[in-house]
Amino acid sequence: MNREKRQSLRRQLIIRMLAMMLPLFILLWAIAYFSSQYFINAAFDRSLMRRTFALADRVEVLHGRVQVDLPVAARELLVFDQEDLLFHSITGPDGRVIEGERDMPRLPARKLLKPGQLIVYDGVKDGAKVRVAAFALSLKGTSASGAALVQVGETLTRRSVLAGRATLAIVIPMLLMTLTAAVAIAFGVGRGLEPVSRLRDRLSARQAFDLSPVPLEGTPAELRPFLDEINSLLQRLSEAVEAQSRFVADAAHQLRTPIAGIRTQAEAALASARHEDAQHALARIARSTQTMGDLVQKLLVLARVDAAENTLRLIRLDGAEVMRAVAREWAPQALAKGVEIGFETKGGEAWLRGDAQLLREMLANLIDNALRYGGARITLTVCGSEQGVTWLVADNGPGIPEQQRTAVFAPFYRLSAGVGGAGLGLTIVQRIAHLHGAAVSLEAGEGGTGLLASVKFPPA
Ligand SMILES: Nc1ncnc2c1ncn2[C@@H]1O[C@H](COP(=O)(O)OP(=O)(O)O)[C@@H](O)[C@H]1O
Ligand SMILES: [Mg+2]
Repeated sequence: MNREKRQSLRRQLIIRMLAMMLPLFILLWAIAYFSSQYFINAAFDRSLMRRTFALADRVEVLHGRVQVDLPVAARELLVFDQEDLLFHSITGPDGRVIEGERDMPRLPARKLLKPGQLIVYDGVKDGAKVRVAAFALSLKGTSASGAALVQVGETLTRRSVLAGRATLAIVIPMLLMTLTAAVAIAFGVGRGLEPVSRLRDRLSARQAFDLSPVPLEGTPAELRPFLDEINSLLQRLSEAVEAQSRFVADAAHQLRTPIAGIRTQAEAALASARHEDAQHALARIARSTQTMGDLVQKLLVLARVDAAENTLRLIRLDGAEVMRAVAREWAPQALAKGVEIGFETKGGEAWLRGDAQLLREMLANLIDNALRYGGARITLTVCGSEQGVTWLVADNGPGIPEQQRTAVFAPFYRLSAGVGGAGLGLTIVQRIAHLHGAAVSLEAGEGGTGLLASVKFPPA
């Protein structure tokens, strides 16, 4: 049995209910059995007595002798029964058996029958339990004296069959009720736990950076304390994350100035250095400090993006306008590298909800990549539609192999080791897209060459 099964609420409830029902069930069974036996005995004893009186009616005294006048039909009636064995006997006042069985179960000791008295008692005959009625027929007023003992007995087959059936008639409905209750619990627990699975779906659909509190409405009261704890944990976590990114931002900020200083010094030294080896070394220092400066700059942006999460206010913007402005900004750099930047719009108006500064940062990173790793042409496209705006940034360079198109979004993941960069560009792109509820994807460009990066915004 695995752990999950053992801890299932449904299972536990059912097991507990059945465990509680079991002793109750046994008790009920006993009560049902003994009470039905009592009532059945009462009814059967009465018919036994009636037969005893009927037999006593046939006793007569002639000239002081006790005798029995039993026609064949009456005798048969006394003996015949489908299930039980019937027997009788009549004993005279002298103790001699006049009619029927000689070997009758004895009267209970200490029970002396007074004339006219009738008792019913339990006994054993031929190894079987039997019930016997005994009647002391007074012979007063006849030519004999004393009393004749009239006894009629029967085995208990019918009584016990009936008692068994009566018990079942009580116990089976009870059993059905218990089973119904178990089934009801099984379903009820599933129904009752529906809010929990809804909650799970909502939590599992969350993005990794989403530390906003879990909404409480629609959740059952029993879950509130649990959700309150989760929310307070999320609150603490987001404070910690915020502190962390503030720290990274501060550190990056602090590093910027000294790095810029080193770079300036290295360049100045390079200009005046005479020795060739020194020139080489200084040139390398200048390059390294530039890379370092880029890295610090990206770290700063990333930390700011993370921090923006809580203060972000999205406003309605023209997606085409934002993209056109960024394209214009980058045109001189592209021109210097001999790269042509094209801009086109498709579909209708391109309204989206966003933060202009973050959106420019996102586009800048995509265009920077296309310039760095792409070919001689970059195409920026804005597609406006009912389902939301899509931005496309396409280049005709080598592209990214399909297996790596997800991995490149991870921080510091780089394919091209040489060409500067810090491996944070696509990470920044993805975080900004997330803040806008947008989806970023990378595909092969048109005709299978180059890279096509697309950012799909939700409808404004
Ligand atoms: N347009 C592109 N064409 C080819 N490779 C690219 C392109 N854009 C990104 N890449 C690859 O993805 C990696 C990660 O990109 P990015 O996160 O921007 O980091 P960085 O540019 O600092 O290396 C890059 O190192 C590069 O190998
Ligand atoms: Mg980059």
